[in-house]
This record gives sequence, structure tokens and C-alpha cells, in this order.
Amino acid sequence: MNVVEMRHIYKYFGNFCANEDVNFSLEEGEVHALLGENGAGKSTLMNILYGLYVHNEGSILINGEEVHMDSPSVAIEKGIGMVHQHFMLIPQLTVTENIFLGMKETGFVLDRKDLQRQVEELNNRYGFNVKPDAVIWQVPVGVQQKVEILKVLMRKARILILDEPSAVLTPDEVVELFNSVKALSREGYSIILITHKMSEVLNYADRVTVMRQGRVVDTVRVADTDENELARMMVGRDVDLDRKITGADFGKALLEVKDLTVRNDKGLEAVKNVSFTVREGEIVGIAGVDGNGQLELGEAIVGLRRIERGELKLNGNTVTAAAIRERLDEGLGHIPDDRLKKGLVLQLPIKENLIMGMQRSEKYAKGIFMRRDAIQSHAEKLVEEFDVRPADIEYLAGGLSGGNQQKVILAREVDREPNVLLAIQPTRGLDIGATEFVRNKLVEERSRRKAVLLISTDLDEIISLSDRILIIYNGAFMGEVQYDTPLEEFSLLMAGRGSKEKKGEAV
Ligand SMILES: Nc1ncnc2c1ncn2[C@@H]1O[C@H](COP(=O)(O)OP(=O)(O)OP(=O)(O)O)[C@@H](O)[C@H]1O
Ligand SMILES: [Mg+2]
Repeated sequence: MNVVEMRHIYKYFGNFCANEDVNFSLEEGEVHALLGENGAGKSTLMNILYGLYVHNEGSILINGEEVHMDSPSVAIEKGIGMVHQHFMLIPQLTVTENIFLGMKETGFVLDRKDLQRQVEELNNRYGFNVKPDAVIWQVPVGVQQKVEILKVLMRKARILILDEPSAVLTPDEVVELFNSVKALSREGYSIILITHKMSEVLNYADRVTVMRQGRVVDTVRVADTDENELARMMVGRDVDLDRKITGADFGKALLEVKDLTVRNDKGLEAVKNVSFTVREGEIVGIAGVDGNGQLELGEAIVGLRRIERGELKLNGNTVTAAAIRERLDEGLGHIPDDRLKKGLVLQLPIKENLIMGMQRSEKYAKGIFMRRDAIQSHAEKLVEEFDVRPADIEYLAGGLSGGNQQKVILAREVDREPNVLLAIQPTRGLDIGATEFVRNKLVEERSRRKAVLLISTDLDEIISLSDRILIIYNGAFMGEVQYDTPLEEFSLLMAGRGSKEKKGEAV
């Protein structure tokens, strides 16, 4: 039986059609993946099903009955729960408090003891292992994710929408999450899974619907398809994410880090006495599980975080205590990890975002006046070259899909012709087409004799792009490996074990 049927759905944002004649159905007990390019309309479709957006045309049937999904409270009442792309928990509250929050407003009778017992029960049944009294900001993202799911289950949802649930999880957390998802579907829960990861579709989904530019391309059984076919359906061509770098002709060191120590927000040493260099024509990858100091290291290089001890050189010049501005002038470019917070001003159009940090350069300003023509043509050129969609330089950055926001940042930073490009999680949340594009750009920068420092928790990405790989654990490097080092060795080092320890040396 179909628990959800969406028929001929249309959704417009102004003149832009984000969902066009979309048909989508969900069978009871199935895991149904929703796959598609950035901006294809996946989140929009699910926001409609969850009552967050109102569609312009079409109808929605839940368990065979037509429903006017006017607000999330209607959706919740109909047994639909959604875990969003960006979590919505309150960091200062405990797990239990977050789960109970807002339940009364949605018409649940609150018996605290009873609810607590239900949380326990769900916890055990689906192997969540969440501690009810833990405070949200103190627990790993993987646990926060489970709290979001518990929250939805506690509201008696039988239909779960998970929007890119694994984007921020470590490999182990991903396995745990999907074990729970499978357990839920075996018990008759129906699950919609939005993801960009082919392996998740192929390993965990029963059916997959592919969307492209607002329309459904097709819905197929996972058993009847494969990775290449899905890629072609999604982006209309083959995608090649294999390693492409060849040869090794490194020049002088452009980025030098010596005995660097940096503290985290809690005042503890997050980076401990770290040293390395990146040379002309080289990509150095820093791999590691999230939260091992790589973010603080990146921030210290950019100038967003104070360097406690040690030295940082760009182009042979010491910039340990220099302002961000001076580092940019020294040739540093930066693709930040969290595009929503650091990379873009969402209320401004694409064209303004493309000159961010250069507003006062002679190219774009004359005295206090902006050179409108220069800004315009510069933006048009980059939007075309980097394939930003929609190709409208007046479009607000906030209205762009994740992948297109990332392209805007990349375009801006690469265009500044940096000598040293620091890329932190450059393809997180991107579709495979955009991922291929961003990776090719980084390789291009390498062949143009730039030094690239890549910080990523995505091991595939590190392996496909790096000349050398450093593994960071607990603020220190566990060792240097190559792209063809066996994966088991990576895992050991990333978990803080490995060669050094085996030899009995202090780590
Ligand atoms: N509130 C909004 N205002 C204007 N345009 C929007 C809004 N929400 C979405 N859009 C546009 O609708 C299109 C579909 O966006 P949507 O977020 O559904 O894509 P998606 O498939 O979820 O992409 P991603 O994989 O990047 O998350 C995009 O082009 C986006 O720019
Ligand atoms: Mg989305």
C-alpha cells in the first residue's frame, strides 16, 4: 500500500519553478531514496510533504486519503516526521528536554515519567544508545542526529523524512544510523532518504527516485540499477571521481607551519605542536575524524583563531600574528567549511558575494564609488565559468542550493589567484556533478603551481586528490601516508592507533 502519494505537484518561488509536475509515492515499510543534483528540488518537495511550504498545484494523499498539508502540525498529526538538513535542537538543553520540547503545543498529553519510559524503550529497541540526561552541545553530531530521530518517533510518526542525514557523520556513525533505519523499516516504518551518496542508495534503499531541475526523471528499484546509470539519470552524463593527479614536480614551500599550537573554544589545546609544509604544485591532504583539531588548524591558518605558539609562513613571510587582510594580501585563498556561517552574505546577490573582500580594490572601486560595470561583467564571467545555477547574478545567495553556494565561494577564491588555497570540506553536501567540478578545480590549481591544503573528513576525497596525506588525531599528526596506503592503516591511524604505537613509541 502507498502511505504517501504526491500527485502532479507544482511549486513556484516567484517565477522559478522548483517542483514541476512531480509524482512521488512511498510504500509502507520501504526505504525510498531521493537523489538529484543540488537545486533539483528534493528539499522543496519534502518541505511540501511536511507542510512547511504550500504547493501551488497538485494533491497529497496520506494512507489513501487526500490531506491539505497546511502546516507541520497537520503533517505530524498524519504521522509524518522530518529530520532537516540542518539540525534544529537547542544546544543548552538535555536530550530529554529537547525531545519533549514543543510536544504539548502539538496536542500531546504530557506525562513525564511515561514519556521518559518511551524514550528508553525506543532507545533500546533501535540501538540508539542515547543518554537522556546528556546536554546537546556536549554530544557528538551522530548522537544529535539520533535525538532528532527519537524526537520524531516520540511524536508517533510512521513516515520519516531524513534530509541528508549522513552529511555530517563519521563513517562509524553512518553505519549505526543506517542500521537503525533498516530496523525501523523492518517494523513497518516508511522512510524517505535524501542523499548524495550513491553507496547509501545502493546499500540501504529499496527504491530510488531521481530528480533533475524540478522534475522527476524516474523511479526505479535499486536492485535493477547501478551507480553509473544513477549518475547519468542525475546529471545527464557520466561522472568520474577517480584520482586524476599524476607526476610530482614540487617547487618551493609556500605554506610553512612550524610547531603550531592552537586552543579551541573551551581553552584546551586543539592543535599540538604541529609542523608541515605545502609546496608549489602540491596538494597536501589532512584526514581525520571530525573534532580532532583540523577545524582549529584551518582557522588558525586563515587568521580566525589565535596562534598560541609556533610559526606560520606564507610565501616565506611570517604571518603568525597577521590580520586576515594581510594574509589575503600574502596570497592566501580560503574555501570555508561551513558555507552558511562563513562564506557568504545570504541577503546579498551573487554579484556582491563574488567581490567580497575586494570591494575596495581598484578593479571594483574608484574612490568611494563602486565600478558597477566591472562588478557586473566580473560576476557574469564567473557565473558562467563555474556553472552557477540559476545563472542570474542578481539572485540572492540565500536562495541558492547548497552546491551552488559552494560554487560561488570557490569562484571568488580561485579568481583572486591565491598562491596558497586552503580548502576545508569543499564538497560537503554537494551532488556528484558539483563534487567532480570542485575537485577538478583544485587539481587545476595544483597544475598552475599553487599550493593546496585540503582538510576533509571525506576519506575518498582525500585519497583522490592528495600528493601526501597527514592524519590528524587528537590535535597531532599520527603519521604521513600515501593515497595507495591500505584502508585499514588509515582507519587505525584515524582512531589514534597505528604504527607509532605498535613500535612502542610515545605518540
Ligand atoms: N525559499 C526559497 N526562495 C527562493 N528559492 C528557493 C527557496 N527554496 C528553494 N529555492 C530554489 O528552489 C530550487 C530547489 O531547491 P531545493 O532546496 O529543493 O534543492 P535540493 O534538491 O534540496 O538541493 P541540495 O541538494 O543542494 O540540498 C533551488 O534552485 C533553490 O534555489
Ligand atoms: Mg536540499
